[in-house]
Amino acid sequence: MCSGGCAKCLGTTLIPLAVLCTLANILLFFPGGEVINNNSHITNEVWYFGGMLGSGVLMIFPALVFLGLKNNDCCGCCGNESCGKRFAMFTSIIFAAVGLLGAGYCFIVSAVALNRGPICNDGSKWRYPFENGNYLSNTTMWALCKSPENILPWHLTLFSLLLIMSGIQVVLCAIQVVNGLIGTICGDCTCCGCCGHSQNYDTHTRK
Ligand SMILES: *[C@@H]1O[C@H](CO)[C@@H](O)[C@H](O)[C@H]1NC(C)=O
Repeated sequence: MCSGGCAKCLGTTLIPLAVLCTLANILLFFPGGEVINNNSHITNEVWYFGGMLGSGVLMIFPALVFLGLKNNDCCGCCGNESCGKRFAMFTSIIFAAVGLLGAGYCFIVSAVALNRGPICNDGSKWRYPFENGNYLSNTTMWALCKSPENILPWHLTLFSLLLIMSGIQVVLCAIQVVNGLIGTICGDCTCCGCCGHSQNYDTHTRK
């Protein structure tokens, strides 16, 4: 059983994803690379901070906890070598659930944003010219947005990236929920040579 090592590897993957999601969310505040000085001209879903809070800040805590799991002291609590490790794995389930919520939030916000399309200036006023993702398959409709320039590729690329990255985070956190459950039930046999210890302990008590 390698539950501690697996958690560490999950943590290492979650950190860069959290950074990239935060960056994508920040870039969305500059539609088409432009600085917009009216907050209402920025797509609503950008203000939901799915990438910065959900997949960013909320993800840092579980990632750090997972990273630390391998180094937890697992020897000698209540006469059971693996119970410290088990408690750590149990705690990681709670953090994995927090990560699952954060990434799930970002995933849903990104899906809604992709479906609804961006706010843009249609030549006379600022509005959401698309609905139900109809612009995704019909690029002729993109002409409805006169400015900001390149708003559609910008919106599509960044929200698609957020959708994919938060989707990966959801999967990784779900893996850690299962991994944490296994670790809680089984302990972590490879840690501090616990297996050898508990065998000695068993034979000792049997005598
Ligand atoms: C694409 O959108 C344009 C502009 O709204 C519309 O005239 C055209 O019929 C649409 N094409 C398809 C295949 O839906």
